[in-house]
Amino acid sequence: LRVGVIMGGVSSEYEVSLKTGREMLKALDPAKYTAVPVHITSRKELLEGTAGLDFALLALHGAYGEDGTVQGALETLGIPYSGSGVLASSLCMDKGLAKTIIRSKSIPTPDWLCWDSMDDYAPEAVQRLGYPVMVKPNSGGSSIGMTKVNHPQELAGAVEKAFACAAEGAVLIEHYIPGQEITCSILAGEMLPVIGIQSLGADWFDYEAKYEQGGAEERIIRLPDALQEQVRTAALTCYRALKCAVYARVDMLLKDGIPYVLEVNTLPGMTATSLLPQSAKAAGMDFSSLLDEIITRSLR
Ligand code: DAL
Ligand code: MG
Repeated sequence: LRVGVIMGGVSSEYEVSLKTGREMLKALDPAKYTAVPVHITSRKELLEGTAGLDFALLALHGAYGEDGTVQGALETLGIPYSGSGVLASSLCMDKGLAKTIIRSKSIPTPDWLCWDSMDDYAPEAVQRLGYPVMVKPNSGGSSIGMTKVNHPQELAGAVEKAFACAAEGAVLIEHYIPGQEITCSILAGEMLPVIGIQSLGADWFDYEAKYEQGGAEERIIRLPDALQEQVRTAALTCYRALKCAVYARVDMLLKDGIPYVLEVNTLPGMTATSLLPQSAKAAGMDFSSLLDEIITRSLR
């Protein structure tokens, strides 16, 4: 099977995508797959690079990659690809819209506001939400353009910064919940072991904490049975409600025994030491087998 590892893209997560792609290329089982690196930064490269592929393994993150557009192009070209389809990809890329759906399923998610431009700027609405707040591009990833705002006087700067990083505009302002950050990886409709994240340095899981050596401590945690079941239900409910397929990663904050869902990532980081592969490893599946499982299930 000729498997193209599609990486690069045009989003702010370009570098993260290259990391994911390189590691996927190394890990694909040569006995089963002919791995072809496909580096794309334009429509032309996407069209030319994917010609002749039997399968597209997506190592893209963020806009044009994780948001359903590349998925739509591949559907049109008739090339099967990994993970979620067009609808789930676009829904999950829009954090505000995804939260609306998550809340409609009675799954807790922190209160939020969404602004389309600086014209919507309304500090009194943020006051009602309650400080601190997290300000982030509504369709971003990897914490790029994100700020924790503790005081009203820091709000305008943070919102401007988020708009500057927001590919298609909107900014999300979310009430900050000081809790234990956890991440729930889902593979083939079941939740893998939960990982607890302890950012070292920053008091939230920012870009450095995510990608720098020693930026964060990530370890498999076993929650008390009742809470574990609550977390599993929340993760799977969001995954299904947002129409995800094959795999995804649901990020949450745990506070006072309540799991608050922050977002669902349809193309989470996939280096061998990224969160989802770590969870799979804890479940006894090495990185090569994980890719194999993703490809096999995506082809069904
Ligand atoms: N957006 C990054 C790649 C993640 O969710 O892992
Ligand atoms: Mg994300």
